[in-house]
Amino acid sequence: MILMNDQFLSREQANVDMEDRGYQFGDGIYEVVRVYHGASFKMDEHLTRLARSAKEIRLTLPMSLGEIKEKIVELIKRNNLKDGIVYFQVTRGTAPRIHQFPSNTTSVLTAYTKEMERPMKDLLHGAKVVTTEDIRWLRCDIKSLNLLGNVLAKQYAVENNAKEAIQIRGDIVTEGSSSNFFIVKDGSLLTHPANHFILKGITRDVVEVLATELGLPFVEKEFKLEDVYQADEAFLSGSTTEITPVTQVNDHKISEQPGPITKKLQEAFEKLI
Ligand SMILES: Cc1ncc(COP(=O)(O)O)c(C=O)c1O
Repeated sequence: MILMNDQFLSREQANVDMEDRGYQFGDGIYEVVRVYHGASFKMDEHLTRLARSAKEIRLTLPMSLGEIKEKIVELIKRNNLKDGIVYFQVTRGTAPRIHQFPSNTTSVLTAYTKEMERPMKDLLHGAKVVTTEDIRWLRCDIKSLNLLGNVLAKQYAVENNAKEAIQIRGDIVTEGSSSNFFIVKDGSLLTHPANHFILKGITRDVVEVLATELGLPFVEKEFKLEDVYQADEAFLSGSTTEITPVTQVNDHKISEQPGPITKKLQEAFEKLI
């Protein structure tokens, strides 16, 4: 079942209009929410971020956040989803193709669910990442449908046998193509400040809470690739990535095994989910 505005439709019934602005311009926003044991994880936080993204691109949501939540929870139930994700997006709607906002359109909400296993191998053993230039636009804080920079970065990772591509703007490390990036140095967590150069991940926020509970300093500060090479540990965070230890960056080994602080955070995260 697919959700289209307030209707639950089969895949065959759900058609995207050729002139939907999401399709032609990437003029829309989205969220991916993890579902564990049939229950969504941090749904309210994702909805709050959706509302923020909508405001930043001056898009009116087709219904209230409460109604969106109700529909999405219903979709999870109807699809009998136990472990996976729910994806939802809102586009500015359908109108004859013009660049500026069209008048008289209503935004279109669509959502679907997908079963997905947790990335256990990477969670347990860590992953390799590679670095690439951050060529994205300057509003990476908006979770917009424009993902071409992220797509190219991830493709680069895959072609280089890596889980993720860590992007670098100028000489500053920003984030992964679909995850936030942390290094650990002398017991402190370091990650890029939550400004327009990165998406403020919901999982990143969870890491901040867990770090505070564990008495680990959470430092939002710019750092460079050389700092990554000198880090004691590194990890990624994201709704599907969870807290994935990074053991290799390009040809540089960070550690043979996931580091002790990363493991502590993973244990605390595990309790939460
Ligand atoms: C560019 C980018 N950064 C960070 C994240 C992590 O965000 P979250 O923890 O909310 O999933 C994502 C998630 O898809 C992302 O696409």
